[in-house]
Amino acid sequence: MKRIRKAVFPVAGLGTRFLPATKASPKEMLTIVDRPIIQYAVDEAVRAGIDEVIFVTSETKRAIEDHFDVNIELETKLKKPGKESLLGELRSILPLSVTCVYTRQHEPLGLGHAVLCAKKIVGDEPFAVLLADDLIYSPEQSALSQMIERYEATGANILAVEMVKPSETDQYGIIELNAEGEVINLVEKPSPELAPSNLGVVGRYILNSSIFEELEKIGIGTGGEIQLTDGICRLLKKETVIAHRFEGIRYDCGSKFGYVKANIDYALRHPELGGAVKQYLKEKLR
Ligand code: UTP
Repeated sequence: MKRIRKAVFPVAGLGTRFLPATKASPKEMLTIVDRPIIQYAVDEAVRAGIDEVIFVTSETKRAIEDHFDVNIELETKLKKPGKESLLGELRSILPLSVTCVYTRQHEPLGLGHAVLCAKKIVGDEPFAVLLADDLIYSPEQSALSQMIERYEATGANILAVEMVKPSETDQYGIIELNAEGEVINLVEKPSPELAPSNLGVVGRYILNSSIFEELEKIGIGTGGEIQLTDGICRLLKKETVIAHRFEGIRYDCGSKFGYVKANIDYALRHPELGGAVKQYLKEKLR
């Protein structure tokens, strides 16, 4: 079994739910307290053993590349007594042992298409996909690391899932399981009456490279986009796909409310800010 070494970060979406904030800035660079959303996802991948991060970007996303690159000018300015911790912060954004690769999705043709754009870079090995919008807080073991463990035990394709409210099935890919716990069907954004379960797929995947062949064969699906869900539907007819109910709290940072909730919770957990934020919220709610 091959080790999971590469992770794809599709970051070429338009982020229309966050306009006007995302008109000229990538939504992945919006901050949760003091770090951009994308950095939480990259940290999760690196801590899970990933050593090559592949960003599928677009022309408005250059700030992501700059964030993960070295900023010599800034580092030179911070090489002063008293600034060591800031310098340390900057240098810990990405360990030097991790390679960053960037490729462009020239048109936002959907998540499936974005993943397909990474085909040549991934090559013939299993890989992870992380959607930074889905920020998952799991202090014990990250969601991706839990999934890699399942992959190592089974060799199967793995989808992260969680229970969603019946009224919200139309916002997720919803899975159907057989008695053995394998995924036998995946329906993109079904209405509650048509949903085969309440288990919705969230933004962490481990996929075999055979997904690329399937993505190449599918056409435009729901919402006029090439859907990763449709590719996985084809894959599950040929290979084992299992669902992993991860331990952790997921924040949907692609929506304004989810983003605000994440900021409040991360601020409350922040070692320097937590106490003051809690006090402030108490006073506000009084
Ligand atoms: P979303 O469905 O959240 O779309 O994409 P979006 O464009 O980012 O945001 P809204 O819905 O317009 O507000 C899920 C993930 O897939 C990526 C996005 O960057 C996000 O990480 N994606 C989506 C692409 O990389 N390319 C696409 O064509 C579409």
